[in-house]
Amino acid sequence: MSNKQALLQTYNKENLNLKNRVVMAPMTRSRANNSENKPTGELQGEYYKQRASAGLIITEGSQISKQAVGYINTPGIHSEEQVEGWKEVTQKVHEADGKIFIQLWHVGRMSHPDFHNGELPLAPSAINPNAKSFTSEGLKDTVTPKEMSLKEIKNTIQDFKKAAANAMEAGFDGVEIHSSNGYLLHQFFNETSNHRTDEYGGSIEKRAKILFEVIDAIKEVMPENKIGIRLNPSLNGIFGMTMDEETIPTFDYIVKKLNDYDLAYLHLSEPFNDVSDIPYAETEIAKRYRPVYNGTLMINTNFNQESGNAVLEEGNADLVAFGKPYVSNPDLVERFEQDIDLTEWDQDTFYTPGKEGYLDYPVKSEREASLQ
Ligand SMILES: Cc1cc2nc3c(=O)[nH]c(=O)nc-3n(C[C@H](O)[C@H](O)[C@H](O)COP(=O)(O)O)c2cc1C
Repeated sequence: MSNKQALLQTYNKENLNLKNRVVMAPMTRSRANNSENKPTGELQGEYYKQRASAGLIITEGSQISKQAVGYINTPGIHSEEQVEGWKEVTQKVHEADGKIFIQLWHVGRMSHPDFHNGELPLAPSAINPNAKSFTSEGLKDTVTPKEMSLKEIKNTIQDFKKAAANAMEAGFDGVEIHSSNGYLLHQFFNETSNHRTDEYGGSIEKRAKILFEVIDAIKEVMPENKIGIRLNPSLNGIFGMTMDEETIPTFDYIVKKLNDYDLAYLHLSEPFNDVSDIPYAETEIAKRYRPVYNGTLMINTNFNQESGNAVLEEGNADLVAFGKPYVSNPDLVERFEQDIDLTEWDQDTFYTPGKEGYLDYPVKSEREASLQ
């Protein structure tokens, strides 16, 4: 394939200028295994630098507060130490001519009392996702969470805002709000996880309200056009999420309303699993939402070089985010350019500490010296 391929074209919008349309999708790698859950230049900095030829890197989900955590060894963006650690990361990526957004994360009911001195995790409603939580003692059953009070909702919105301010201080090019994959904000959207009867539940508008309040709060501390949003509308049967007849209409409402903002991008996932038998699911996310959303649309899930080029050429997305291919191919962009076969990822080292399965995947292409 020639270098005229769509994935390798630059992307130039007033608010987003990328050297190509290949995005590294956010991926938890659980290597912040220190008492502060702080990233370091030596580990995370090196890892993201190796991948800096991507048009854009989105970091692993990073907890916005102590309360927001739900997996072991994930980095945070709420303490001074963490900000100092991220500074080393962003500096390395920028030196290698890369761009990097941080994903702001609150897991809600996917957490476990083990992370909170025995206290219950917070969620829109007291509904157990009946999933597994990844604790220091291995996978444990999730519990019935505590329904958030209005004060706890307001505090959480402030935590998102503070985390965004911290991200700017740490030198990030932007933030992605993790309102996807069955975590806190997504738990508000779906009626099956949100039984609230106050201003945050009961109708589509009310279930979506918290997302817009989070965006509005973050806008106070950073430019709106550096904020990305992630959504996974057809998530069913994983991360404790179930769809019903209002799920897709809720996402229709959200996506339409996002047009009122001048965001960096909207990041959508195609279904994670086969949802063709689910009556309420949409099987073609990019096709459904491209005509609805006016801004930059990023699409993800199960793309390869061929289907990534195709979705761009068909006009159904502007950018393509690659997850697992980026675990094992630091030079993914150059491999697309130079038609080099991809290296398979090793699932066993997705979440293990240290450099193995993290910094030791081979570079097979010719690439700039700064990235070697
Ligand atoms: C190891 C691993 C960790 C992940 N962690 C996150 C995360 O922190 N935040 C997130 O939004 N998605 C996360 N995901 C989902 C990916 O961003 C992506 O949606 C998924 O891997 C599908 O894309 P792919 O087919 O290109 O891998 C993770 C996926 C993997 C494989």
